[in-house]
Amino acid sequence: MSIPENIHPNFQNLLGRKGKESLLNQHGLVVWIYGLSGSGKSTLAIALEQRLHEDRIFTQVLDGDNIRAGLNKNLDFSDDDRLENIRRISEVAKLFVQTGVVTIASFICPRNELRAMAREIIGPDDFFEVYVECSFETCKERDVKGLYAKAKTGQVKQFTGLDSSFEAPEPRELADLILNTNIQTESESLQQLYEAVRPRVFLEK
Ligand code: ADX
Repeated sequence: MSIPENIHPNFQNLLGRKGKESLLNQHGLVVWIYGLSGSGKSTLAIALEQRLHEDRIFTQVLDGDNIRAGLNKNLDFSDDDRLENIRRISEVAKLFVQTGVVTIASFICPRNELRAMAREIIGPDDFFEVYVECSFETCKERDVKGLYAKAKTGQVKQFTGLDSSFEAPEPRELADLILNTNIQTESESLQQLYEAVRPRVFLEK
């Protein structure tokens, strides 16, 4: 995206990322977790943060419901607003990762195009894409927030997987990691996620 007129970014003069990472003793990374509502994204994001915290890794979780209660409270669930939602979150995640923070983003992020945009904004080297796979049927059965029931009776519109589409990664190799919460327990998924993230955030001695 081009820079607007009369705006003169001076990122090059800011204190460098390397120094901040060595202060924190870690590599910054964005762990981009996405999937249907109820698939287990937020649970895994929170559990991963806790686990990394125990390892003295400095983290920040960005989560759909939290961000939509604040920064993005003016956005709805139309395709355009979902895109703007992900664009802003990606810019925020980029700021965090450039200060060396391990940033765990948890959003539905329903289309390949949106994930590609996030990867481009954040930068491919800092972007670790995790698809939390879970069937619509299972998410509907769990219905932790009661939204599937509301969507069914038309109280929630443009609901993902119902009247708003969700694309699994296509090809599947687009995702760096796929966790299937239909068949895995929470602790199995967490372990797999933690093992994938850990070597990417620890500084080599
Ligand atoms: S995204 O599609 O733009 O990435 P995001 O992750 O920010 O979605 O927000 C999803 C959260 O908003 C869900 O976890 C759910 O609690 C809530 N929500 C409210 N309305 C909808 C809807 N129509 N579709 C999906 N999620 C909704």
